[in-house]
Amino acid sequence: MTNAQWMERDLAYLWHPCTQMKDHERLPLIPIRRAEGVWLYDMEGRRYLDAISSWWVNLFGHANPRIARAISRQARELEHVLLAGFTHAPAVELSEKLTALTPEGLEKVFFADNGSSAIEVALKMSYHYHRNRGEERSLFLSLSNSYHGETLGALSVGDVALYKETYEPLLIRNIQTPVPADGSPEATASALEALEKLLEERENEIAAMIVEPLVQGAGGMHMYAPDYLREARRLTRLHGIHLIADEIMTGFGRTGTMFACEQAGISPDFMALSKGLTGGFLPLSVVMTTDEVYSAFYCDYSEYKAFLHSHSYTGNPLACAAALATLEIFESENILERNRKKSAQIAKNLESFRQLNNVKTVRQTGMIAAVEMIDYPAEERRGLQVYRYGLEREVLLRPLGNVIYFMPPYVINENEIEMMMGVAYEGIKKLETRD
Ligand SMILES: Cc1ncc(COP(=O)(O)O)c(C=O)c1O
Repeated sequence: MTNAQWMERDLAYLWHPCTQMKDHERLPLIPIRRAEGVWLYDMEGRRYLDAISSWWVNLFGHANPRIARAISRQARELEHVLLAGFTHAPAVELSEKLTALTPEGLEKVFFADNGSSAIEVALKMSYHYHRNRGEERSLFLSLSNSYHGETLGALSVGDVALYKETYEPLLIRNIQTPVPADGSPEATASALEALEKLLEERENEIAAMIVEPLVQGAGGMHMYAPDYLREARRLTRLHGIHLIADEIMTGFGRTGTMFACEQAGISPDFMALSKGLTGGFLPLSVVMTTDEVYSAFYCDYSEYKAFLHSHSYTGNPLACAAALATLEIFESENILERNRKKSAQIAKNLESFRQLNNVKTVRQTGMIAAVEMIDYPAEERRGLQVYRYGLEREVLLRPLGNVIYFMPPYVINENEIEMMMGVAYEGIKKLETRD
């Protein structure tokens, strides 16, 4: 069957995520038959370089044989068992590994099954912690331009109007403090001044501050300095407020270190992980927290302080097996070191974009790079034009508004980096000449 035939069957029944379905009257859907490494292959054999790791989940290539084998082995042994009252080796081994890998002090692992759910868990746990200690704090603090997922709690602490505005009457209480405008010391200082003032005024109301450390993903790959994070940690601690590090996108090497928090030398009270956790194979998430938080829930049942949150697929053994295989690849293949060379090549290529008249700025943190075009009006959908241009030339770029970004799987090779960035360059340049 052809791409068009699959598209017709799809559109008869499917309602796709984050999509105005009417767009598909003109924009073809791409049915993918198989994938390998950085490449996706459609039903007619055309290929696409996955420059965005399929919404930032893939680390070591599509259909990675090592991870596929681990899942297959696990599927024949134990596919799933509830995690309440029962446990299994993949969940135990993964928890041991994660507590060893993450910043000091994160000693307990609570499983969920996707990024947004992990954020719900962290928010509920923080609120509940204060409540268990006799304090009512129902307000959360987040950064402007942040994104933490689409469920109602996660949406409440986010700040992307396009996703949030419609649901405003349904949301939980949240206030925002400005994210540093860029990585400069001046921007860091000015954002910290605002944070300090806010914490002084409202410390008794706030349960937790939540941040995407160093890089705000859906907010256009906006980047800020580790100094902000370090000082935010100091201030939140000083005011008795939790710090939740949402490393759902930044975790597992994306920013150049295993976790972005390492670059600031901080330990948050909660760390949410998902996406790359399973190498991009299966949905899984965890919230890591401290013994101190755990202890506030640990008591006789009759005190009713337990954290009674659950999802059916919590800690699924197949997903845990995929995660263990992913961590083994990190251990055995010196990934972070090898990525440094790739980041350097990306940095070199990124420079050329600066010369384009329609490029406002370029930025990079580790294996994440972004090219921000000038402020084209949203209705012109210039990013979409670059997306179409990329697809015609075998590269899947999925711009965020006027920002074209690169977050490829780590198995990308030198030629593929040249191709990915070369196509993006030409796509942006083409818009420049059309003006
Ligand atoms: C920083 C961050 N937090 C949370 C989420 C939500 O994760 P999920 O899409 O798995 O619900 C995302 C997803 O893009 C994210 O980038």
